[in-house]
Amino acid sequence: MKLQNTKEGYGFIAIALHWIVALGFLGAYVAVYYRHWFSEGEFSMTELNSNMVSLYLHMSFGISIAVFVVLRILWKIANKAPEDVPGGSRLEHSAAHGMHWALYLAMIVMPLTGYMGTKLDTNFFFLFDIPKFNDTALYSIIVEQWLATTWEQFESVVDAIHKFSGAYLVWLLIVMHAGAAVFHHVVRKDAVLKRMAPWVK
Ligand code: HEM
Ligand code: HEM
Repeated sequence: MKLQNTKEGYGFIAIALHWIVALGFLGAYVAVYYRHWFSEGEFSMTELNSNMVSLYLHMSFGISIAVFVVLRILWKIANKAPEDVPGGSRLEHSAAHGMHWALYLAMIVMPLTGYMGTKLDTNFFFLFDIPKFNDTALYSIIVEQWLATTWEQFESVVDAIHKFSGAYLVWLLIVMHAGAAVFHHVVRKDAVLKRMAPWVK
């Protein structure tokens, strides 16, 4: 397999980045829903109990996604996407491209709003601490000087976007996107899924 995309299909780097980011999303979702559903309500934020472990894992997966998304966007700029798989109407091709743009938006907005809206330093996979946004110089430039607002007001808006998008919109996008890939493979029996998942028979 080539490293770069060709006219016919995705190269190794685009495929690897796609699945690393998809696993990152899975990790972030499993961690945050483990916390919501199975972790005790009463907890101390200064101890590493299961509640804080799952929150730190959520934040660590989210920040890792941000790193890979930056690489992915740079790679997308440097390397042209393959041509559409033949077959399918113009509307279907446009819908698929629209979905890809929406997923890129989700990949940018989710880690950003997650990081900017949290009051905690991120204990990155229990290796080192990443300072929270409101301890950074960028915070004072953006929030205090440019937006001229308080942390409470800023956090409530950013947190609402993060939680609403994470709990509803992004789920919907991923399910529709993965559903379309399975539909192509099972019903259309074309190369759409195999181009991104070459191990699929
Ligand atoms: C692609 C990345 C991310 C996704 C898909 C994601 C998704 C979510 C979801 C689904 C929720 C629960 C919403 C709800 O039902 O209330 C949530 C909550 C939260 N996220 Fe993220 N998130 C991501 C990245 C981040 C990052 C990078 C951070 C911080 C560094 C972060 C911090 C938080 C916090 C503090 C909460 C509230 C915790 C809680 O309610 O238990 N997230 N996120
Ligand atoms: C089980 C889950 C998933 C499956 C089965 C899947 C499958 C696919 C397939 C088959 C393609 C190629 C489509 C084409 O050639 O037109 C693709 C592309 C793409 N997927 Fe996924 N995907 C999954 C999860 C995700 C997630 C979680 C994201 C991001 C949040 C994502 C973002 C994208 C993007 C942006 C593209 C366009 C190609 C690119 O720029 O890298 N996918 N996916």
